[in-house]
Amino acid sequence: MSGLSPSQKELYSQLGYLVVPGFLPIETCQTLRERAAFLVDGFDPQTVSIFSTKNQSSTTDDYFLNSGRDIRFFFEEEAFLPNGQLRQEKAHSINKIGHALHTLDPVFSALSASESILGVVRDLGMKSPVQLQSMYIFKNPFIGGDVACHQDGTFLYTEPESVTGLWFALEDATVENGCLWALPGGHVEPLRRRFVRTPGGKTQMLPLHSAPLPDVAPSVPWVPVEVPAGTLVLLHGRLPHWSGANRSPKSRHAYAVHVVDAACHYPDDNWLQPGPVS
Ligand code: FE2
Repeated sequence: MSGLSPSQKELYSQLGYLVVPGFLPIETCQTLRERAAFLVDGFDPQTVSIFSTKNQSSTTDDYFLNSGRDIRFFFEEEAFLPNGQLRQEKAHSINKIGHALHTLDPVFSALSASESILGVVRDLGMKSPVQLQSMYIFKNPFIGGDVACHQDGTFLYTEPESVTGLWFALEDATVENGCLWALPGGHVEPLRRRFVRTPGGKTQMLPLHSAPLPDVAPSVPWVPVEVPAGTLVLLHGRLPHWSGANRSPKSRHAYAVHVVDAACHYPDDNWLQPGPVS
């Protein structure tokens, strides 16, 4: 683990994302996968909350809204049979764990305490980086849901905008098992939307800019980010990206941390509010 080279920084500023192979040792990937399996094993789903990037506003509940302060588990949209039973074993039914692993779980917080995590963001010019949110993404075999095209700034908004994503591949990510797809250079365009809380305890998408994005398709101008386990992918907060469903028999585990600049204002109507559960 070391800092970014000048050519890596230049590539990031041109493309809005950067692939850093070999950032995490394979042993660390294994440790994090084992920890996630342990957490899922201990999860007793009294509360069923389903994660959707397409209609989270309508499926939002307190369990989701307070997940910025906790370790919570979200099922795949296709996890359940019509009779309510899980289609696959629990370990292969969870979409993600979120959103405070980086502070509340000892294994994930140890990784987050690593200077190299914030160091790469400092290398990109952020003066006071702070980890705001984290999630463990399973992209399970056969039922791993797609993630709609978005900019991370929509969900982690600051004034001025500052969010940067650190996406760690814990398993090989390929087109077949639902790797990221990015729009090279798309980060120079404006932020389109903000996901906010409403006074009634709900959420909504606030439109900010109507500039259209290219339709999502597994073809140009979109680029598949196929990477081996251990790779770090840095994502600019305005970079449009998405990932496809996983219909393959191979999972595509990843751990993502989102960093913002502490010097920026964090609005209190942002959907995610960090801090202890009240
Ligand atoms: Fe994202």
